[in-house]
Amino acid sequence: MELKISPSILASDYANLEKELNRISNSDLIHIDVMDGHFVPNITIGAPVVKALKRVCNIPFDVHLMISNPIDYVEDFAAAGADIICFHTESNSDIEKTIEKIHFLGKKAALAVKPKTEIDVVLPFLDKLSMVLVMTVEPGFGGQSFMEEVMPKIEKIRETNKEIDIEVDGGINEETVKIAAKAGANVFVAGSSVFKSEIPNDMITLLRNNAEI
Ligand code: DX5
Ligand code: ZN
Repeated sequence: MELKISPSILASDYANLEKELNRISNSDLIHIDVMDGHFVPNITIGAPVVKALKRVCNIPFDVHLMISNPIDYVEDFAAAGADIICFHTESNSDIEKTIEKIHFLGKKAALAVKPKTEIDVVLPFLDKLSMVLVMTVEPGFGGQSFMEEVMPKIEKIRETNKEIDIEVDGGINEETVKIAAKAGANVFVAGSSVFKSEIPNDMITLLRNNAEI
């Protein structure tokens, strides 16, 4: 399985986003956390910012929608330059219809689950998805601790499907990346660990090496 590191710009300096993207040029994906202050108690980036970032970055955008009504916004994010559009099973949108709409827009669809959500919810959709995002913290904020108790959910998806990308998001650092990789994850979101390190590109390489099992 190809290992991919997807740094979350939530932990970056929003006053210098172009510079921050240049510090993570070794990354495979750019993870962009979109929060609406309703699905989660925080508000972050919207489609206009994604569009602006697209002008200065060639790395594919992994857009994580933590919003209540994703089906109403996938068009905006697709137009803004999202390459993978990920939405939550716990949102109010119909899962099948939202996946169809993302595909109609020519983008890859991913489905995310919060730590307390049973993974069985995503199993019927695996064939239609490029990726499943398993949250290893409660969504809403960066800098929280990795929840190892979520690992059996990753194991279950990996047993069911050997090909699909499984992304972990929350508390990933040079140690926890090993635990998630062992469970079967191959895409690793890392916010604080990457941006708080002196040379983010070196941390990306370290995470990728440590994920190798
Ligand atoms: C949390 C976001 C994460 C967050 C991860 O709701 O979905 O992507 O940025 O941050 P760290 O790596 O600091 O836990
Ligand atoms: Zn995220």
